[in-house]
Amino acid sequence: MKNLPIALMLIISSLLAAAAAAPAPWVQTLTKGNKKITKLHFYVHNHESGPNTTVYRVAAASITSTSPTTFGRVNVLDDLVTAGPDINTEPVARVQGVVAYSDLHTVAIAMTVNFYITAGEFNKSTLCVSVRLPLTERLREIPVIGGTGAFRLARGYAVSTPYSFDFATANSVLEYTIYVITRSNEIVWTGF
Ligand SMILES: *[C@@H]1O[C@H](CO)[C@@H](O)[C@H](O)[C@H]1NC(C)=O
Ligand SMILES: *[C@@H]1O[C@H](CO)[C@@H](O)[C@H](O)[C@H]1NC(C)=O
Repeated sequence: MKNLPIALMLIISSLLAAAAAAPAPWVQTLTKGNKKITKLHFYVHNHESGPNTTVYRVAAASITSTSPTTFGRVNVLDDLVTAGPDINTEPVARVQGVVAYSDLHTVAIAMTVNFYITAGEFNKSTLCVSVRLPLTERLREIPVIGGTGAFRLARGYAVSTPYSFDFATANSVLEYTIYVITRSNEIVWTGF
């Protein structure tokens, strides 16, 4: 993201969260009837450069370098997800998938990723997300379209917001809150 247009850099900086998040457990569940509601709150470290790089550009279009919206850039990422905004807090997940800059008129991406949980009671379960994200907006709504393991048949949504952005490295931290609903009586057979 190092060669993003200055205008986009300014947009990003104006979106950053001012206040620190209140400390709370990164995962909470409650059961209501046959519904289990899971709330996940964590921070995604999107590193475009440096020793912990987790985002790599894999393709670009003939117009990407001159496009004000970076149209046609495709990135593959495997971002570290931690319980707190500091990268040295508890690692709880990875977010893995593809991001394509896919709007000719405004800076928006099509993002298809899986949250792969690596800690706690949902270890190794995944949440599948596919969304159009306007990077010009501070609060971004993201549908959860399914999952595996404990999240089989999951439905839900997430809210994401930029938490910090380092202009020197183009590395950013994104804060996510995900609400997931699973229903205990939907799984009749276990295993396959
Ligand atoms: C790289 O990640 C480790 C933890 O995974 C962290 O301690 C270190 O500060 C990070 N380095 C940079 C340059 O972000
Ligand atoms: C999560 O699963 C991995 C891989 O099987 C395992 O190494 C790790 O200890 C597990 N962590 C927890 C908290 O269960």
